[in-house]
Amino acid sequence: MLEHDVIIVGGGLAGCRAALEIARKNPSLNVAVVAKTHPIRSHSVAAQGGIAASMKNVDPEDSWKAHAFDTVKGSDYLADQDAVEILAKEAPDVIIDLEHMGVLFSRLEDGRIAQRAFGGHSHNRTCYAADKTGHAILHELVNNLRRNGVHIYEEWYAIRPILEDNQAKGLVMYHILDGELAVLRAKAVMFATGGYGRVFNTTSNDYASTGDGLAMTAMAGLPLQDMEFVQFHPTGLYPAGVLISEAVRGEGAYLINSEGDRFMKSYAPNQMELAPRDITSRAITLEIRAGRGINLDGSAGGPFIYLDLRHMGREKIMSRVPFCWEEAHRLVGIDAVNEPMPVRPTAHYSMGGIPTNNDGRVLSSADGLVDGLFAAGESACVSVHGGNRLGSNSLLECVVFGRRTGAAIADFVEGRKLPEIDEGRYIEEAREQIQGLLDRSGNCRIGELRQEFQDVMTQHCGVFRTQSVMSEGLEKVQQLQDRYQQVYLDDKGKLWNTEIVEALELRNLMLVGQIILTGALNRQESRGSHSREDFPKRDDENFLKHTLAYYSPAGIDIAYRPVALGMFEPKERKY
Ligand code: FUM
Repeated sequence: MLEHDVIIVGGGLAGCRAALEIARKNPSLNVAVVAKTHPIRSHSVAAQGGIAASMKNVDPEDSWKAHAFDTVKGSDYLADQDAVEILAKEAPDVIIDLEHMGVLFSRLEDGRIAQRAFGGHSHNRTCYAADKTGHAILHELVNNLRRNGVHIYEEWYAIRPILEDNQAKGLVMYHILDGELAVLRAKAVMFATGGYGRVFNTTSNDYASTGDGLAMTAMAGLPLQDMEFVQFHPTGLYPAGVLISEAVRGEGAYLINSEGDRFMKSYAPNQMELAPRDITSRAITLEIRAGRGINLDGSAGGPFIYLDLRHMGREKIMSRVPFCWEEAHRLVGIDAVNEPMPVRPTAHYSMGGIPTNNDGRVLSSADGLVDGLFAAGESACVSVHGGNRLGSNSLLECVVFGRRTGAAIADFVEGRKLPEIDEGRYIEEAREQIQGLLDRSGNCRIGELRQEFQDVMTQHCGVFRTQSVMSEGLEKVQQLQDRYQQVYLDDKGKLWNTEIVEALELRNLMLVGQIILTGALNRQESRGSHSREDFPKRDDENFLKHTLAYYSPAGIDIAYRPVALGMFEPKERKY
């Protein structure tokens, strides 16, 4: 049986940062990263606009406290304030550390790291590498893993964690290359598996963002927290939905409706285009609903609005946001120096996830911990984002809580023995599962079912929600889950059989969708990104609490846990 001291599932920013911290703290530990893609193809590589930290390079008035306040207010007061304090306080230090690793941040004239404006932040505090910040950071982290001897299982798909008696003991995984199954045993297992954007039909996320870690955690009987909070990024390029970074607005671009109006003045008169994402996405959706969206021929009443960069000028566009210019040019033939870009909200980020304490240890219930199981990054919910994340706080969360979780893991495994595992049993179960998929003789193709499911989630659990629309959506999702039994695979082979992975991912996507809808139906208020037209107000008396959703084949049970309040009293949000 393969064995390591620590297994980290996921090769993005949080997983790589944790692995590096473990190697730094105790170089004798044997650490492995298991990733279904090559680590530098993890979705973190696509992060564009930047990473927040009160460095004060541009704005000397900034402080960790101001950053913490903006984050808590942005979260609609659902974030845990002790976690937010850690995030904001440790931010400058993790940036300096990245800088020392060799990350190529953009610079001010005097050589210090440049910082730009971002939505919901009261100061210019977002550090960046043009509009390819995730790319710059992830490449350095992956290089550092290799230097530090971390073993990388690339293109291995995690099938399930091995959890026995409330203890994480290892992982079962599938090699996409040749269909080999393997059991890894370890003293600690960490999930850093990212988000689930592919639950929706229009998303900024890559094809691999299928919520695998979330679904595996739920199927293991552990809770998921606050899954009803789905972030829709205001500016997905129409029609593909790929990200056009908030940095474009941070650098001065306008949002314009069919009447040529900067409509954000009606929704967030002080922050305008730099209001938090929940508010901006709702504003765009309302403009489109009111007939002030735009069609491809430029007429009114269409499905998108304009992001207008023209006044910024070629030099600024090409030096600050060259990738966004290139995306619009390549995908829809728009030269943003001379023409506005068509944009609309796109599913972008999961505020919810696997609940953890501030050291990344996974919760088994409102007040219990799982032995040896850790999580960080988008797949986790620590919770620093509450009901709505501020842009440029997610890379920060990955690095701050990746580092903390790595340090906690290094301490946890100290002096522990490798657990005993019945390897044969786990291999046999996985073999039956894979063979069961190959032997299917149903009448439903994976792609068709996935498309139907993504359409249902988009129609029934979007920017605005109501009881009746979501109930109908949940019923449809359950019918589609029944139809999953009819899914068949064309490819019956073992070599590079991506259909097997797609089938497993689809099961995960649908389970995550079921949990999102159930949480959203239960939360009868509007808070952050969760906007109920039938319950338009925030209801602190009844819902200032985290949702815990427990999955079982019989259905989903909802429980709650308290929010950690502290420095900042909940107030009405005004921007
Ligand atoms: O718009 C962006 O560049 C995205 C940043 C983020 O989600 O933090």
